[in-house]
Formats: sequence, structure tokens, C-alpha cells
Amino acid sequence: MSTDDAILRLDRINTQYGAVQVHFDLSLAVPRGSIVCLLGGNASGKSTTMKVILGLVAPRSGRVLLGGEPVTGLPTPKIVRRGVASVPESRRLFGAMTVRENVLMGAYTRGDRGAVREDYERVLDLFPRLRERERQHAGTLSGGEQQMVAMARALMARPRLIVMDEPTMGLSPRHVDAVLDLIATINRQGVSIFMVEQNAAHALSIAHHGYVLQTGRIVLSGGARDLLHDPQIRDAYLGGARAA
Ligand SMILES: Nc1ncnc2c1ncn2[C@@H]1O[C@H](COP(=O)(O)OP(=O)(O)O)[C@@H](O)[C@H]1O
Ligand SMILES: [Mg+2]
Repeated sequence: MSTDDAILRLDRINTQYGAVQVHFDLSLAVPRGSIVCLLGGNASGKSTTMKVILGLVAPRSGRVLLGGEPVTGLPTPKIVRRGVASVPESRRLFGAMTVRENVLMGAYTRGDRGAVREDYERVLDLFPRLRERERQHAGTLSGGEQQMVAMARALMARPRLIVMDEPTMGLSPRHVDAVLDLIATINRQGVSIFMVEQNAAHALSIAHHGYVLQTGRIVLSGGARDLLHDPQIRDAYLGGARAA
């Protein structure tokens, strides 16, 4: 049994692709039950952070801990079985399969067919737009609807933690609001969330804590409200935009 109050902890992670170092002593924590965002511009190392958590990229040094237990170097399916689901950057849906088939893919590691069917109904209650489109091919959905399918698929694994790569990227303003509301709702149901985002205003509007990544180094961190009003953040990531 672990007493770590963080569902996810990265401890002095260094990652490199060949000779190019991407993370420099990256450390962060996601307290149980919270939404934490990692903000950063293009090529700052956000997606690589997701891949390290999921065991898709091995760090050169440092540790990944889930609920206090080290999982560094474990293969991805083992990490998934420990309660981590992901919503990847490109959503990675099967375009020629229906919404229903894509969502059910999220339960592929589960053997409890009856409970899966119940969970499917419960998950679709969160996404009325998907309920209307259950038999539509995922490839014909709008970007926002595809994002919802990816989120519903993640929930089908009954995760403790969902990691999301730029969930609002490329969405219309209306879909951005819908997706952010859904992330907050999922979190209120007890699922911890770690999201990486370029759009600080989007991420900080629902997050509890945030970290700022600049070329592989954490340069700032704090409560979401404080970050939203931080002059450095406003200049670099909010384009001087009005804080919500
Ligand atoms: N598979 C890879 N091989 C080599 N370099 C990579 C690979 N994936 C990403 N990179 C490089 O690592 C850096 C960080 O990339 P990434 O983590 O995708 O950043 P972000 O998601 O913040 O845009 C970039 O310079 C990118 O070109
Ligand atoms: Mg990325």
C-alpha cells in the first residue's frame, strides 16, 4: 500500500531522442482527484511527456510513479491495466468503424462483458451527441465529436487517471466549451486528469494546478487561478488576453 497523495508523479525525468535531449529533470505531480495541466508551446516536449507516462518512450533517467508505485519501463498494456487511459493527440479513431465500436474498444482489456454494457450506457449518458450518432462512422464526425468519442473510449477502461494531449486543439469555440465542460464533469466523477495544452486559457479554466514547460524544463508552476493572472503566462500564452 502506498501513501502517496499523488496519482501520478514524474520524478526528475530526462528524455532524449538520439542525441537530442527533450526533458531536463522534469518533475511534476497530479494530486488524486485533480485536473493538472502542462502548458507549453510547440516542440516544448508535451507529447513526449505523455509518451513517457504511457511507456511509449523510455526516459534516459528518472521515475514515473502511479499512486506511489514506480512504473518506469513497464510496457504500455501493463500501465493501462494500472488504471491509466489516454486521449491521444490525433484522437486515433478507427474512421471506418462506428461510434459505438470505437467507444467499446476502450474496454478491450476488460473481461466483464455485462458491466461493460452497463458502463457503455452510463458513458453515453454523458455524451448525448454521440448517442444520436452511435451507428455513424467515426471518420464522418466533426472534430469536436471525434474528441468526445476518444474521451468516451478512455472512460470505458474505468481509469483512475486520464492523460490527454491537446484536447481542444483544432476545435470550434462551441466544441471547445463542450469538451472542457465534459473534462470537468468526468473529473467530478472521481477521475484524475493530466492534460497537456498549448492553449493556456482553455486548460487553466478547468485545471486546479498547472505547470509551464519551456524546451523541456518546468519554468513555472502553481494554482490555475494564479497562473491565469501571472504576467509571464499572459504575455507568452494568453496573447495578453483577458483572464476569465
Ligand atoms: N520520435 C521522435 N524522434 C526524434 N525527435 C522527436 C521525436 N518525437 C518528438 N521529437 C522532437 O522532440 C521535441 C519535442 O516534441 P514533442 O514532445 O512532440 O513536443 P510538443 O508536443 O510540445 O509539441 C521536438 O523538437 C520534436 O521534434
Ligand atoms: Mg504535441
